[in-house]
This record gives sequence, structure tokens and C-alpha cells, in this order.
Amino acid sequence: MSTNRTFTMIKPDAVENGHIGAILEKINGAGFKIVAMKYTHLSKRDAEVFYGVHRERPFFGDLVSFMTRGPIVAAVLEKDNAVEDFRALIGATNPAEAAEGTIRKLFAKSIEENSIHGSDSDENAAIEGAFHFSGREIY
Ligand code: CMP
Repeated sequence: MSTNRTFTMIKPDAVENGHIGAILEKINGAGFKIVAMKYTHLSKRDAEVFYGVHRERPFFGDLVSFMTRGPIVAAVLEKDNAVEDFRALIGATNPAEAAEGTIRKLFAKSIEENSIHGSDSDENAAIEGAFHFSGREIY
């Protein structure tokens, strides 16, 4: 994946609460192009591997339970400066600290159930995108 791409997931809380459409509008409105997208469901093993970097954290078990409790929307997004600009669009990990107008401020309820994921580096964007999509699924 090139460096102007990032990876996102609309998390189970946002899907359950009917926010897929509003979140996609925010993403498109901010100038991101969707180059891959799927409505899917993480298995326990998927979530454990995807969040493997957090394995030793006290919230790991709860995070895996949360991320597997319902469907998600996974997508690869394209824009200049995609990783940084997308993290600005979604806001701080803890929605209580997220700036006004950000996706987490608008839709998220807690630091764990924070509605949306955004890759934190170009390297992780490539790894996370490849975790969810084969090359031929990315336009
Ligand atoms: P995200 O940054 O997308 O990926 C790691 C996730 O772990 C994060 O979103 C939250 O959903 C969750 N997380 C991070 N920190 C905490 C925390 N202190 N307590 C509970 N969950 C957390």
C-alpha cells in the first residue's frame, strides 16, 4: 500500500447504533476516497492477531470481546497525508478528550468503545490493510 493510504474499521458500537452512513459521509466529506471496503465480522483469533501489540495490556480481553461482538466495516482510504489527516478526523482515542466535530466526539461513548479505528503509521496502515484485504480487493 502506498504512503497516501490508511486503514480504518467502523467498530461494533457504531455499527450497532446505526452510524455507518453518517461516518462514511464524514470520511468522504473530508476528502478521503474509499479504495476497498467490506462489512465483516472479526473472529476471536482475528481480533487477537490484529490487536496483538496490546496483548499485555489490562484491557486486551475486553477489547477482543468488544471487537468480536458484532459486525464491523473495514476500509482502505486514500488521500494525501492519509494517516495523519485521518487521525485528526477521528479524534483522540478517548472520546472525552476528542476535539469537537471529530468522529469519536460525535459518536463514541468510551475509550474502549470508541467507534472507529485509524492506523497510526504508514507501516501499520499497510499491515492492517493487508490483514483484511487481498491485493485484488483494493482498487
Ligand atoms: P484503537 O486505537 O483503534 O486500537 C486500540 C484500541 O484499544 C483502542 O482503539 C481502544 O478501542 C482500545 N483501548 C485503548 N486504550 C484503552 C484503555 N485504556 N482502556 C480500554 N480500551 C482501550
